[in-house]
Amino acid sequence: MSARKIIIDTDPGQDDAVAILLALASPDELDVLGITAVAGNVPLALTSKNARIICELAGKTETKVFEGCDRPMGRKLVTAEHVHGKTGLNGPVLPDPVMPLQDQHGVDFIIETLRAHDARTVTLCPLGPLTNIGAAFEKAPDIIEKVQEIVLMGGAYFEVGNITPAAEFNIYVDPQAADIVFKSGVPIVVMPLDVTHKALVTKPRNDAFRGLNTKVGTAVAEMTDFFERFDKEKYGSDGAPLHDPCVTAYLIQPDLFTGRHINVEIETESELTMGMTVADWWGVTDRAPNALFVGDVDSDGFFSLLTERLSRL
Ligand code: BDR
Ligand code: CA
Repeated sequence: MSARKIIIDTDPGQDDAVAILLALASPDELDVLGITAVAGNVPLALTSKNARIICELAGKTETKVFEGCDRPMGRKLVTAEHVHGKTGLNGPVLPDPVMPLQDQHGVDFIIETLRAHDARTVTLCPLGPLTNIGAAFEKAPDIIEKVQEIVLMGGAYFEVGNITPAAEFNIYVDPQAADIVFKSGVPIVVMPLDVTHKALVTKPRNDAFRGLNTKVGTAVAEMTDFFERFDKEKYGSDGAPLHDPCVTAYLIQPDLFTGRHINVEIETESELTMGMTVADWWGVTDRAPNALFVGDVDSDGFFSLLTERLSRL
């Protein structure tokens, strides 16, 4: 089977970085057509820089990186330096990128790429706020039916919120864009906090990254060393949750994950619960299912896959 064509839409972020490394390490399964950066964990100038730092770390300097939107569709940008540090990639010391940004706007790249490919042959992988995808669907509604699938990290049901008591960060930052995506009719797979909080980098797992004795292994270990302090303090967990790599791992080995095909809607009006993913996990409404909402992961299998793939870079 040929590699699945994907566009990674991202706001790196240490966990985004690991998700990108996993994809770039897996060319037999994933053909990364481009990476579009969006404002999220840190402002756009940093996320687009960080995306290139990661491509260079992976030795994949031919990867096309685009800048997308610098703010949410209808709200002020909220960032997460309190989790990811000032640069978004705090932890390892990595050189500034030399590879250029592409001239085209990320939203136009998404539109042009979907138009240029056969219908349902390109998958979108959002790892940050959904601004670029929402903007592309609004600007060019003809591309919606051409998307094969959207596999995204965002939302929560049992774990509720991490940026507010009710909302997960990616959805909270741009609920309007999320609403467009969840109403689009495109097949969606959601990796909410319910599953990503089970993908924890415990000490032995981080030692395994470090033990690769490669530039990539050391950098990933140092990223999670930095990133874990936030969740350890907040949740008392054993280590950092690797949220975004759940997306790229699912594309490579979907049988690691289980979930329910349910209705998911986004709160866009109430300030109190803004960006909440109202997930009908228990099937208490007759609203039509629009997403596979993932709830569980074989975490040992996930970390074996990740460590083995990182060893290839
Ligand atoms: C999500 O928000 C960001 O901080 C992470 O990169 C991840 O995409 C988790 O809520
Ligand atoms: Ca992210």
